[in-house]
Amino acid sequence: MSIFPSLTGSEYEEDEVQYNQICEKHKHLLETLPKGRGWRTQHLYNYNGFWLGPMTLNANLLLHTYFKCEPTNIILASFMKSGTTWLKALMFSTLNRDRYSFSNHYLHNNSPQSTFPYLDAESYPMTDFTTFSAPRLFATHFARTLLPACMSSCKFVYVCRDPKDVLVSKWHFMSKLRSKDLPPLSFDEAFELFCLGVSEFGPFWEHVLSYWRASLESPDKILFLRYEELKKQPEVVVRKLADFMGKPITMEEEKKGVVGEIIKLCSFENLRNLEINKKGVDKFGKLVEVEKQGFFRKGEIGDWKNHLSEEMKDRINGIIEQKFLGSGLIGFSE
Ligand code: A3P
Repeated sequence: MSIFPSLTGSEYEEDEVQYNQICEKHKHLLETLPKGRGWRTQHLYNYNGFWLGPMTLNANLLLHTYFKCEPTNIILASFMKSGTTWLKALMFSTLNRDRYSFSNHYLHNNSPQSTFPYLDAESYPMTDFTTFSAPRLFATHFARTLLPACMSSCKFVYVCRDPKDVLVSKWHFMSKLRSKDLPPLSFDEAFELFCLGVSEFGPFWEHVLSYWRASLESPDKILFLRYEELKKQPEVVVRKLADFMGKPITMEEEKKGVVGEIIKLCSFENLRNLEINKKGVDKFGKLVEVEKQGFFRKGEIGDWKNHLSEEMKDRINGIIEQKFLGSGLIGFSE
C-alpha cells in the first residue's frame, strides 16, 4: 500500500519530497534536542516543552504537515493512563448508538482501541482519514500546545485523573512495554522522573494546564472531564458527552434506559471480561504492539495508596498545588 493513498502522480512525488524532509528534520531533532530518560524507550526528547519518544516526535511532525482539520472533528485528548480506553468506548458507543444494538455491539467483537485512531501513531500518513464520516473521532496524548493551530476549530473532550493514580498506572503499563534490552525502571525511579516532569507526553501538570487554559478560552470547544467524576456519576458524564457531541439523549432514549446501557457496555468489568479484550494485541503505528489486556488493570480510584509512601504522596501533592496555583484547577492533591 502506498504511504499516501489519496495522492497520485506528481502530487505523490511532491509529497515524497516533503516526507523525506520530515525524516531529515526528525533526524536532526533527535541529535539536537535535550534528552531525558524514557520509561519505555531509552530516551525521551524535550520538544517545545514536552517529553516525547522518538516515534511520537516523528508522529507530531507528520501531524503538523498532513492533518486536515475539520470543524466537525471531535478529539479525545488525555495524558496517558487517565481513562482514554474508557472514553474511547463511551464516546464511540454514545455517538453511534443508533448503529449498533446493545445485545450485539461492535465492542463485543472489537477492542475499544479500534474504535477510532490516535493522531500520535507514527503510521499517520498510511491511514486514509477521508474514509471516516463526520463527525470524525480521533484520540491524542499530545498536549494542546503541540497540536496544529488549525485544530482550534475542532471540539475536544479532555479527560484527566489524579496524578498519583496516573503515575502508578503508567509505571505498570510502561514496565511491560519497556525494551528487554534496557534495565527495568524501578517504581522509585519512575516516581523521581514523574516529579521532574520527565515522562512520555509530560510534564503531567503542563499537559493538564494546556487543555485547562484552552477550555477557559473556549468553553464550548473543550469538555473537561475527570476520571473520578466518571466513576462516581457516569450517567451525568454520558449525558454531557452526548450533548457535547451534538447528539443529546432524547426523552424516548431516557425511558428506554439507553444511558444505563452505554455505561454497562463500557464498564471496566464488562470490557475487561470480554474475550476480545483478553487475548491478542492492539497495534499503534508501525512498531508498537500492546497486549489488549494491558489496558484493563484495576480501574479504581486511589490504587496509589498501595504504592506511594506518605512522603511520596506529599511530594506529588505539593508539586501539583504549586503548579496549579491560581489556575482554578482544584481537587488534584487529595
Ligand atoms: P489502572 O492501571 O489504574 O487500572 P488509559 O486508557 O488512558 O490507558 O488508562 C488506563 C487506565 O484506565 C487503567 O487504570 C485501566 O485499568 C483503566 N480503565 C480502562 N478501562 C476502564 C473502564 N472501562 N472503566 C474504568 N477504568 C478503566
